[in-house]
Amino acid sequence: QIVKLADYRPTDFVLLGVDMTLRLFEGHTDVMTVLAFERREGVAIDAPLGLDGDGLILDSIALDGEILSPARYDATPDALVVRELPANGPFELRLENRIAPEENTELMGLYRSNGIWCTQCEAEGFRRITYFPDRPDVLAPYRVRIEAEKAVAPVLLSNGNPIETGELPEGRHYAVWDDPFKKPSYLFAVVAGDLDALHDSFVTTSGRTVALGVYTEKGRAPQAAYAMDALKRSMAWDERRFGREYDLDVFNVVAIADFNMGAMENKGLNVFNHKYVLLDQDLATDGDYAGVETVIAHEYFHNWTGNRITCRDWFQLCLKEGLTVYRDQEFSADERERTVQRIASVRRLKAHQFPEDQGPLQHPVRPAEYREINNFYTATVYDKGAEVVRMIATLLGETDFRAGMDLYFERHDGDAATIEDFIACFEEAGGLDLSQFSLWYAQAGTPTLTVTESWDPEQRQHTVSLRQSLARGAAGTGTEPMVVPVRFGLVGGNGEDRHAESEVSGAARLKGDLIVLSGGDATITFTGLSDRPYLSVLRDFSAPVMLDHEQSEAERLALGRLDPNLFNRWRALDDLIAEGLTLAARRPLGDGQPALKDAIVDALLATAGDDEIDPAFRAQALTLPAETDIARQLRDNVDPDRVHQVADAARAAIGTRGLASFERLSAERATTEPFSPDAASVGRRALANAALAYRCAATGDPAAALAQYQAASNMTDRLGALAILAHRFSGDDASRSALDDFYRRFEHDDLVLDKWFALQATAPTHDAVETVERLANHPRFTMRNPNRVRTVVGSFAAVNQVAFHRPDGAGYRWVADKLAALDRINPQIAARIATTFRAWRSFEPGRRAKLKETLRQISEIKGLSKDLKDIVDRSRK
Ligand code: ARG
Ligand code: ZN
Repeated sequence: QIVKLADYRPTDFVLLGVDMTLRLFEGHTDVMTVLAFERREGVAIDAPLGLDGDGLILDSIALDGEILSPARYDATPDALVVRELPANGPFELRLENRIAPEENTELMGLYRSNGIWCTQCEAEGFRRITYFPDRPDVLAPYRVRIEAEKAVAPVLLSNGNPIETGELPEGRHYAVWDDPFKKPSYLFAVVAGDLDALHDSFVTTSGRTVALGVYTEKGRAPQAAYAMDALKRSMAWDERRFGREYDLDVFNVVAIADFNMGAMENKGLNVFNHKYVLLDQDLATDGDYAGVETVIAHEYFHNWTGNRITCRDWFQLCLKEGLTVYRDQEFSADERERTVQRIASVRRLKAHQFPEDQGPLQHPVRPAEYREINNFYTATVYDKGAEVVRMIATLLGETDFRAGMDLYFERHDGDAATIEDFIACFEEAGGLDLSQFSLWYAQAGTPTLTVTESWDPEQRQHTVSLRQSLARGAAGTGTEPMVVPVRFGLVGGNGEDRHAESEVSGAARLKGDLIVLSGGDATITFTGLSDRPYLSVLRDFSAPVMLDHEQSEAERLALGRLDPNLFNRWRALDDLIAEGLTLAARRPLGDGQPALKDAIVDALLATAGDDEIDPAFRAQALTLPAETDIARQLRDNVDPDRVHQVADAARAAIGTRGLASFERLSAERATTEPFSPDAASVGRRALANAALAYRCAATGDPAAALAQYQAASNMTDRLGALAILAHRFSGDDASRSALDDFYRRFEHDDLVLDKWFALQATAPTHDAVETVERLANHPRFTMRNPNRVRTVVGSFAAVNQVAFHRPDGAGYRWVADKLAALDRINPQIAARIATTFRAWRSFEPGRRAKLKETLRQISEIKGLSKDLKDIVDRSRK
């Protein structure tokens, strides 16, 4: 069953209001739903009302207070159809059904996690609770009454404002919540249980006081302090930067141990994977802090971009997700350091979105069809979606972009909107035509931007030619030229941007430091230059393209030193390293040539050792491109062992050449300074840990890592050292004893234990296949907890290129086996992990055949879920 964008039409009946009662008992929950409807104008009198269900059994149905005769309706687990409804005026349907949250292992709809009742309804989970028009364009106010045993569930939460609580017989109690803001069912939420909470408040600019609560499992509320802090900073930032205030009297966040995704933006009641809420100062890494801050901000920002303005249908998913990722990226850039944040986002885009966009699971930012919507919460929709919004901001400039956003909020508040609605606001605010630009939403694939330059010493002019091209990929969408904003500068030998007269020919226009390329190619001639400048293009990664810029090594090394645009200063070196590694990986093993030339290593070392530069930036520079990124750039005949050897040789070479500097940088670490999660401290720790890794790569001696592991006063340093031991010295005594020690110290905390599982599952050695088999039989492993499955099976398949792709196919077989078992418990997670098979075509013939065969075997699993089948079928194409 394929759903198509082109088939959209509104419902026949308008939903006016929802009144629900959930009676929670041990083992079952009784649901009573009262839905007020009205026939939409112009809809035929005999049109039936169709509601969605998923695995439901209807117990009773009444229309305007009267039990309905069976002739008037058909109820199956998946649908309820009611006939002969009033021709005009509102009517009320009252439905009753019973569900079993305790047996819900998919974690969609209402389920229980460590005894806590909670919900996840996006995208289509609400239909697992009650029959309903479960689609995002059906908006209504909700009133929800929850009843439960007081001792088991003293806390009863739902969306909106609390309006009533009271006692019931037999030790039970109830709470009523009222959400006045119309919303679609995917934003519905209920949480009930014995929870602790951290309470605070926030006063909005217009003077309203909002009660804030972060709810956790018993005893963990103190660990929510940073999440609360991040929430208040997010609220203040959205007022400052976008003029958006919070609208209800309360805002609650709940941390749940078993959760399929990062978090969910339910109106007034965000539900989180507890990994993105809980931080214990002694147990959390800097990365964990950054994760909490980003996800808290992201879900909070959805209140306007997602909730007040939602999506007309799921094809418009990027309308809320791309925009909200853009907003959370901007928040992090403002709160931390802009260039370092941008480097991290671009790295992420290249590591996850580029491969998706260049393989069989390719789809446009706004897909035109789907079989299973859960499989479209992708890097393309989220991260490329954010890049598209960023390009709009770049094209319009700060003032007009803000005006466009203001118009969007004003015009579409309360709407279920489309990408076209969104774009129209920026066309009006910026006074420009974005119809060609909109191709970014419709055409899949990563365009290539080819840049060539030539210097004319006689005329003292520099000519820059740009060409864009887009290959047709698996999605089969168009390949028309798009609007590509290229931020640039002409850098002089003094490290300053030169000003030059310019003349454009071809399909581009020049706007300050921006070339807006709109056709296949264009040439720009810069005149009046005293000498040849260094061309710095695609500054800040101003468009999500692959850059093919023929530039000499000397020029790039110069830009790596001089470019006033810090992002491009980083990229100049990163590109040189990536190209060096890619070329080396193409050469046969043991040809005697170094993976990286000395000049490149020296440039890297100069940056790393320069105390004038921000440590966080230097740490980014020292982070080599991901091995999966090298593999993508190789395109075909990839041998992951070879890629790993090359990267490892490069690390050893860099480490050896810079040993003195790395010893200094790793020894200077501030173990004595009290832990603080601020950006400057984070940067210092990142640099010291990167230096330690190079130092161990050079010496082949685990002693320095072991010493740091033992002396560490915070988790970032301890885990940084343990990662070196577990990966570089996997199997050695030092590694084994440190891992054992880590387990003993932290086995009480599941979130820390996940790190112990993940480090071992990602050790780049062939015997990690046996390791993960052992881990999967560990008493603390369970298929029921998504985080645990992701850290063992997911990270093995997605990160461990050496073991997953072991030449004998044992890694593939192991993952396929786990997927078969997992699919029966939690198909959404199984489908997500299975996407790692999509790259099969790019490998050398032996692995290619085995990957292909494994995909075929997975496709033949009996009772395969729709989720997993969709991924496997598309990957095989
Ligand atoms: N809307 C959530 C967020 O990005 C994610 C929901 C994911 N849902 C899913 N079915 N995969 O904040
Ligand atoms: Zn989101």
